[in-house]
Amino acid sequence: MNSRSQERPHLGSVLRWGGARLYALASANIMPGCFPAPHPPMKKSVLLTLALAMHPAAQAAGDAQAGKAVFTSKCASCHSVGPSARAAFGPQLNGIFGRVAGATTDYKYSPEIKKSGVVWSEKTLSAFIASPGKVVPGTKMRFWGISNERQIADLLAYLHTYP
Ligand code: HEC
Repeated sequence: MNSRSQERPHLGSVLRWGGARLYALASANIMPGCFPAPHPPMKKSVLLTLALAMHPAAQAAGDAQAGKAVFTSKCASCHSVGPSARAAFGPQLNGIFGRVAGATTDYKYSPEIKKSGVVWSEKTLSAFIASPGKVVPGTKMRFWGISNERQIADLLAYLHTYP
């Protein structure tokens, strides 16, 4: 929180009540009688800044839509995601974040990945996609790796849409 919002503790409750409340506050400005003195412009800009900071897109690192294209061209020949996903040449990748490596039951993994003890996170998955054999030596995932960090971030954002 920045110091400006600390000077105005009531902004905290505005945040908790959510975006609808911001609209209510804004429209109160134009309702005669309710707020005879309009809010100073300074305050409006603070509210706008807070509203923008709360927008989810401001926090997302990768672009899921772009990641879909990366998945289709680089992963989908061996992996699937979605309601009908199942093991193919590689294991299905639904709910990959937080999953222990080698955990799906309909796929026959290499012994190396099963005993690796890796848990898939943003960090381990990025490293694995960049160079599978460095994270799991001996893995049977034959993949040259993606070196473009943007593409990896987009891909991870896409995989996050299949929890
Ligand atoms: C040529 C086929 C192939 C391609 C292309 C491929 N993979 Fe794999 N992948 C595999 C195989 C095979 C395994 C199983 C590895 C093992 O058992 O050692 C695997 C395993 C994985 C795992 C571990 C899953 C688990 O359950 O532990 C992840 C995650 C993964 N791949 C992600 C990807 C992503 C993301 C891409 C695209 C950038 C990709 N793979 C591209 C074949 C492929």
